[in-house]
Formats: sequence, C-alpha cells, structure tokens
Amino acid sequence: MEKQLNQIQIDAEKDIKESNSLDQLLEVEKKYLGKKGSLKAILSQIKDLSIEEKKAFGKLSNQIKVVLNELIFKQKKLIEEQEIQEQLKNEFLDVTLPAIQTQKGSTHVLKQVQKKLEEIFISLGFEVVDGPEVESEKYNFEDLNIPQSHPARDMYDTFFIDQKTEKYNRLLLRTHTSPVQIRHMLKQGAPIKVLVPGRVFRYEEADATHEHTFMQYEGLYIDKDISLSHLKGYIEEIFGQFFGSKIEVRFRPGYFPFTEPSLEFEISCPFCKNGCKVCKQTKYIELGGCGMVHPNVLKAAGIDPEKYQGFAFGGGLDRLAMLVTQNNDLRLFRQNDLRFLKQF
Ligand code: DAH
Repeated sequence: MEKQLNQIQIDAEKDIKESNSLDQLLEVEKKYLGKKGSLKAILSQIKDLSIEEKKAFGKLSNQIKVVLNELIFKQKKLIEEQEIQEQLKNEFLDVTLPAIQTQKGSTHVLKQVQKKLEEIFISLGFEVVDGPEVESEKYNFEDLNIPQSHPARDMYDTFFIDQKTEKYNRLLLRTHTSPVQIRHMLKQGAPIKVLVPGRVFRYEEADATHEHTFMQYEGLYIDKDISLSHLKGYIEEIFGQFFGSKIEVRFRPGYFPFTEPSLEFEISCPFCKNGCKVCKQTKYIELGGCGMVHPNVLKAAGIDPEKYQGFAFGGGLDRLAMLVTQNNDLRLFRQNDLRFLKQF
C-alpha cells in the first residue's frame, strides 16, 4: 500500500508539472485529490489494516496530500503568470505610435482675404453690409445709371432669370456688388460708410483670370464735403494695411456709368521696388475702379446730390487673393482641391 501511495505521488507530481492550463490542472487535482480521486480510493482500503498501520498510512497520505496541494498551488501561479505574459505579448500596445490624425477644417483663402479686408474697413469706421445674389435689373443696372439701352451693359455679361417683377423689371444674378450701394442708400439715407463684400456672377467663359462666379468688394462713403482726395487717402491706408507695407496710389481716367469722374486705381507694387513678375516690371498693380458717386445714382436712391456727395470704389476680391497667394490661376480657388487650399 505504501508503494501504491508513493506511486500516486509520483504520477500526480508528473501530471501537475505537465499541466499547462488551469482547466487541465483542475482535472489533475480532481483525478488525485478529488472525492473520487485515487488518494481517496486507496484510503478506503485502510479500514482492513491494524491500528499501527492505519496511523502510518493516514500520516503518509496526509503528507502526500499536503505536498500535492502545494505543488498544485505553485503550478497554478505559474500557469497564471504564463497566461498574463502571453496576453501582454499578444495585446502589445505601442504608446509611441502616432495617433490617428483627425482632419481639421480651416478657413478658405477667399474668406481669409475677405475677413482681413473687413477688419481693416471696420477699423476705419466702415460697416460691413450684404445684399442678395439674385438681384433686380433696376438695382443692378437702372438705378446705377445704366439704362436698358446703355452701351455699358455690354461690360456685364449677365445671367438673367426667367422671371419678371412689375416694379423691378427682370431678375438676374448680380453682376457686381454695386447694387448694394442703392439698397443701402434707400435703407439708411446719408451719411453712409459701408464695405460690401460678396459673390457676383457673369456669363463668361472660364480661363485663368475669368470665372462665372467670383468675389468683389465695394467701398462707399457718402457724407458732406467728401472729395477725391479722401478717396485717395482711404485707398492708400486700406491697401497699405492689407499688404503690410507703405504704398502709393495712382489714378488713371476710367469709365463707369455710376461715378463721375470715374477712375481706375493702381497701387505701387507691394512686392518689389524696381519691377517684378507680379507687377510685370511696371512697379504698379491695377486694383479696381472708383470715382465720385454720380448725382443720378444719389437721386435714384433718394439722396440730395446738392447736399451730399461721396466716393465709391470696388474690385475683385479674388484678384487680391491671387496677389496675396501669388497664384496665377483664379480657377484654383473654387476647384476644392485640398492640396491647393491647405497651403493657406
Ligand atoms: N462695379 C464695378 C465692376 O464690377 C466696379 C466698380 C467700379 C465699383 C467703380 C465701384 C466703382 O464702386 O466706383 O466692374
């Protein structure tokens, strides 16, 4: 019997050591130490032995039980440790990996230019106002001193909308921001000091410098005793701030039906002193049109030209953006190619 007990211990120790999962170890424990285990089975024969022998075997079997329990405990720890290591290996987390990049939106370059311009105008006491993109023929042309038969209508290739209104003639997509001059004069009366940035439309074939949809800005200042010298001063200040350098303003004669006199304004090239690619070696850059608001326009909007006069000036916001970004192709601003837009 002693031999049998020793053999059980040897077998059990071997099985315990060979167990490499907790389930397997539980099975081994059951097999040797469980209610129906081999140790219990052998001890059931003890009743046939003498008292001396009973004591001796009882003691031995207890010792074996203690040894095996201890071994099982150790093996359990070992298996648990191995499982943790295994898990750590499989679930390896590299904290040095770069995080998943989320795409961050940014302001479109045209909006950036608009905002910059607005801030400058606001700092000089102008109010920023807006008008509808679907405009009436009356405000877009007639009240701006461009009657139906006027040859200046040819300056504006217009998208007409197939709809007429009694009071305002045809509807159209505004060809410039100037109709907002009329709207604002009617709404507020004189004096007026506003900036009108906005989207305009022309029925034009697109190329590097023309688009059917583009942005304009328009400054209007109406008050008593306003003259061209005020206009010159404002243009100098506004674009000096915009380009971040001191600039000179130059006027050339021009023609717009809504101003008298009408001028084209140019600024000295903010990018060079002696001629460069941007100014095409001329040292000046054409920016837009301007002049003193025509008395007919003031009258059409209910302002007395004997009492008030003012200047207006306007140009392409896209053109400013082209200068700032040194981009020669206007179309890139609206093609929504992030490779281009993300640069600004
Ligand atoms: N509205 C003109 C255009 O689209 C630009 C312009 C010229 C605006 C002279 C003005 C101005 O306010 O005075 O071509």
